[in-house]
Formats: sequence, C-alpha cells, structure tokens
Amino acid sequence: GLKIVTIGGGSSYTPELIEGYIKRQDLLPISEIVLVDIEAGKHKLDIVGAMARRMVKAAGLDWKVTLTLDRKSALKDADFVTTQFRVGLLDARVKDERIPLSHGVLGQETNGAGGMFKAFRTIPVILGIIEDMKTQCPDAWLVNFTNPAGMVTEAAIKHGGWKKTVGLCNVPIGHRKMAAEKLDIPEKDLFFKFAGINHFHWHRVWDKQGLERTHEVIDAIYKPTDEDQESHLKNIHNASFHYEQIRALEMLPCGYHRYYYAEDEMLKHSIEEFEKGETRAQVVKKTESRLFELYKDPELDYKPEELSQRGGTHYSDAACEIIAAIQNDLRTEMVVSTENNGTVTDLPYDCAVEVSGVVTSHGFEPYNWGTFTPEARGVIQSMKGMEETVIRAAIDGDYNRALSAFIVNPLVPGGVVAKDILDQMLYAHKDHLPQF
Ligand code: NAD
Ligand code: G6P
Ligand code: MN
Repeated sequence: GLKIVTIGGGSSYTPELIEGYIKRQDLLPISEIVLVDIEAGKHKLDIVGAMARRMVKAAGLDWKVTLTLDRKSALKDADFVTTQFRVGLLDARVKDERIPLSHGVLGQETNGAGGMFKAFRTIPVILGIIEDMKTQCPDAWLVNFTNPAGMVTEAAIKHGGWKKTVGLCNVPIGHRKMAAEKLDIPEKDLFFKFAGINHFHWHRVWDKQGLERTHEVIDAIYKPTDEDQESHLKNIHNASFHYEQIRALEMLPCGYHRYYYAEDEMLKHSIEEFEKGETRAQVVKKTESRLFELYKDPELDYKPEELSQRGGTHYSDAACEIIAAIQNDLRTEMVVSTENNGTVTDLPYDCAVEVSGVVTSHGFEPYNWGTFTPEARGVIQSMKGMEETVIRAAIDGDYNRALSAFIVNPLVPGGVVAKDILDQMLYAHKDHLPQF
C-alpha cells in the first residue's frame, strides 16, 4: 500500500488532510500515514495525531497512523511526502508581520519583508528534507505546501534537484469557485487558465461555448457598487482594486495582488491591526488554540467547522487531489507551482511558475501561457528576480544578496529603512537562521 509522510504533521490543518484521504479512499490504497514534527511541535503532534487516528477509525479504515520526531526514519520507502511545516511556528510569523509594520512597512507572511524571511528560514529545511529523501525514498513525490510555496518549490526543484516536486496553494481553488458563482455556471463547465507565480498570478475564464467570460467576472466582482469587493480569503482584507485598472489588465488578479495594487489601503489596514495587537498571526494564534482545545476532545472524530476560520481552508484537499491524480493518472486539471520550462516565456526556464495544467502519473503537464501584456510582464519579471535573489541568499546565508532582495522587493521601500528592517529581523530570527 501507499506510504504518505507529512512533514509538519502537528499543523492544525492535518484533519483536513485526513478527511481528504478518507474521501478518496477508493483511489488511495493507503497503508500508512506518518506525521512528522519536531520537539517544539510535539504537543501539537500528539493532539492532532490522536485526532487523525480517531478520524481514520471512525471511517472504518485500517490505515496505520504513525507519529514521530524522527524525520529520516519516517521517510523510509515513502511514496508521497507532503510538507506543511512552519519554522519557528506562529511566533516567528508574528515577528515577520510586526517588525516591518513597526517601521510603517507592510508585514505579511508570504509578501514583502515577512515573506522573504519565511523563505530564509524555510529553504534550508526543505533542502535538508530532500537530502534525506535521496537515500530514504528516491522515487517519492514531494508535494509542497510550505510557504512561501513558490520560492520553496523553486528551491526544491532547481537547487535540491528534486524534479518530482509539485507546489500547491488554495488561492486558485477559491478563484474558480468565485467565478463560477458570479457567472452562475457550474465550475466544471468553465475553463480556467492561470499563470504567474505563487500568490502573484492572474487568470482568464471561458465557457463551454468558447466565449471568454473574464470581463463579466471582472465586472461582477470589481465594478464599483455600494458593497465591498469580495476577498474570498479569510486572511486578506477587502481593499478595493481600481476597476479601470483591472479592465485594462483583461485578466483577473489574485487576492494577494491587493498588497501591490492597493498597497496604501492594505498598509493602512495592517497598521490598524498592528496597533490593536491583532495582526493576522496574532489572530491565528487564538484560532489555533481554540482548534487544539477542540481536537483534545476524545469524542471528536471529524474535522470541526472552526477550521474554516483559517485562510488555508481547502488547501489539504488540493494535496489529496494531486496525490490521487498522480497515483491513478487521472489527468485532473489543477493549478500547480512547477518548473517553468518555457510555459511563461517572460520568465527563466528553470524557475517555478504557478500555472494551469493536467496532473498525470508522470507529473504535471502545464498548459502553455506564452507572454504577458506589458503591465503584467514588467512586475512579474521583477518579482521573479527578487525571488531568485531571496533563494540564493537563503541558501548561502548571503547578507549582501538579502539586502539586495529587500531593495528590489516592491513592498519594501529602498534606502535606510530596508537595511534597518533587515538587520532587526536577522537578529530577531537568529535562532532559525544558522546560515547567516
Ligand atoms: P504551524 O505553525 O501549525 O506549523 C506546522 C507544524 O510544523 C508545527 O507543528 C511545527 O512544529 C512544525 N515544524 C516546524 N519546523 C519544523 C521542521 N523543521 N520539521 C518538521 N516540522 C516542523 O503552521 P500552519 O499554520 O499549520 O501552516 C503550515 C505551513 O503550511 C506554513 O508554512 C503555512 O504557510 C503553509 N500553508 C500553506 C498554504 C498554501 O496555500 N500553500 C495553506 C495553508 C498553510
Ligand atoms: C491563504 C494562502 C496560504 C496561507 C493562508 C494563511 O490560504 O493561500 O498560502 O498560508 O492563506 O491563512 P492563515 O489562516 O494562516 O492566515
Ligand atoms: Mn497559498
């Protein structure tokens, strides 16, 4: 049977993953699920692991659920390795958000200074996992969810050399659902094409008759009305995009584009949260404690509704879906972070892009996108250059490159403040940055 290993098994999202496997039990001949964590997350692993066992039992399945802190042994003969770890846990995310904001600069877990620091902490760990996989499970697929998912996936493929890597995110799933709702057409009758990089992608949509419906979705969501524009994500404030700009783009932006296209309003809102002591990580810490209180209940054997308070809801579903699709050669259409290889002609061949395509038993086959219009091409090239610089800095512990990435990142103002934030964050996170 299949052996699926999850690194960061103590995550509060684990019940979603288990639910996803249970739903797909006919497609997934699982024999063992291994949840791996570290000492700092052991209490979480124990609680959520017991919950996972109850869920499997309640479903009448005989899957073995193993909990361990020994990553290397856990990886032995794995078929799929999924990653959902957070180096430094939520306390590190609090710093990623609050330090930049204390300088009046956007602080966010996957964007700006916070996103770059999450990459600095995470990339050495993903490369360490790959080192273990080389000896323990050389044929396994690596399904990465760990943020910043685009940079982590690029590091795994390009620098770790692990070609059998797929990177996933729940944002495209939400956008598909929202477009289907706005057009009042079932999602399965629409054709979507996404392209860009993780948390910085755009998409277009067509109907069964072959008509492009992108403009209608743009109008339905972004045309000014008395109501707020919707952000389907729990973690992103509903700042408004300029309707005129989105019309000119002729593509739908993703939720995270708000940090760039509506930077002033997002910053204002973030500073308000900062002043109240309620940045996203601080709010999520409370949600997380409530979730773990629920998970402790020995009677609870299903995913509680409360988990939908997390921004990543549906994300584990994507992980289970891609595993089922690879395992059974389902050719399922998905949006995946993958090696570019010319899919987006504006970006290097060896970088990661997040694009639509089909999942086969030999991996992800992206649909060709070609080139972007100038207003998207310029920013995506600059964002990718920033990401490549961050990845190099993360691997080499290179201060000069880290500063260079800070200066290039559009959410960090250049000059003195960039260096001040960098230095303060390097110090605050030093326990998780041995390479610097
Ligand atoms: P979390 O804070 O609960 O962390 C998950 C677990 O990782 C913790 O139990 C922690 O102890 C463990 N961990 C930390 N360092 C580790 C290491 N070196 N090896 C193994 N385990 C380690 O995090 P969460 O909120 O559940 O999110 C988990 C990760 O998934 C984050 O990186 C988050 O950004 C990401 N995420 C991504 C998406 C997506 O769309 N791609 C959606 C949701 C979450
Ligand atoms: C979205 C993103 C994820 C991110 C999550 C944060 O779903 O796609 O990449 O991890 O939001 O949610 P949280 O509840 O942790 O703020
Ligand atoms: Mn994501």
